[in-house]
Amino acid sequence: MIRIDKLSKSYDGKKNAIENIDLTICDGDIFGFVGLNGAGKSTTIKCLVGILPFESGEITVNGKSIKTDPVACKSEMAYIADNPEIYSYMKGIDYIRFMLAIYRTPFDNAKVLKMAEEFELADVLNNLVSSYSHGMRQKLVLLTAFLHEPKLLVLDEPFVGLDPKATHMLRTMMTEYAAKGNSIFFSTHVLEVAEKLCNKVAIIKDGRIAVNGTMEEITKSSSLEEFFLEVNNG
Ligand SMILES: Nc1ncnc2c1ncn2[C@@H]1O[C@H](COP(=O)(O)OP(=O)(O)OP(=O)(O)O)[C@@H](O)[C@H]1O
Ligand SMILES: [Mg+2]
Repeated sequence: MIRIDKLSKSYDGKKNAIENIDLTICDGDIFGFVGLNGAGKSTTIKCLVGILPFESGEITVNGKSIKTDPVACKSEMAYIADNPEIYSYMKGIDYIRFMLAIYRTPFDNAKVLKMAEEFELADVLNNLVSSYSHGMRQKLVLLTAFLHEPKLLVLDEPFVGLDPKATHMLRTMMTEYAAKGNSIFFSTHVLEVAEKLCNKVAIIKDGRIAVNGTMEEITKSSSLEEFFLEVNNG
């Protein structure tokens, strides 16, 4: 589904924020991307989803290059940024309609309402997004991404700001979504959740991949948290 090959990106033309990143994510994978603040997670993700140009390397989504075929790549994925910015003059329901139209997905009222109820958003769908709390905005963008069902979900710290009920919902939805053969690439600092949810994981350190493998092999002798601390203290 995703192939990242020798990806490097510099913001200032001097020092690489990320260097020589190689990652492969297959159909049905839930891939957890972890690392300290400033390690390069969001930079990698922004290159993957085609919003940051990069100097060297290649990224393909379903065999298509994000550099030469960005629209085809983007039509297969949903990206949710670490701090979702939504047009605040829109109502929640308008945002859903707008995004579904972009992805050419029909608006199914019953499905929208069911999901909005599950996310405790049904009562506020007709309110302006400017009146939403951070967690409500996060739930709205997540809900919309699951509604148009792309083959690939790219989520930058999706659990930040979610209440325990929404966290549980999101975990369940991610598992069900991947079980259908879709793929998820997400970054997180919540290592306990990553350990339970992901079948693959990579630890990025100072812009380079320090560890990359299956969750099973990485957590064979210690928890992901212990492993992570070992890698980042060494
Ligand atoms: N817009 C930018 N301009 C210049 N440097 C940037 C920019 N965005 C990120 N960086 C630098 O790139 C490096 C990687 O940052 P990045 O945001 O990818 O880290 P991260 O792993 O997502 O961290 P966090 O866990 O805090 O979200 C850092 O050194 C950061 O200072
Ligand atoms: Mg980040």
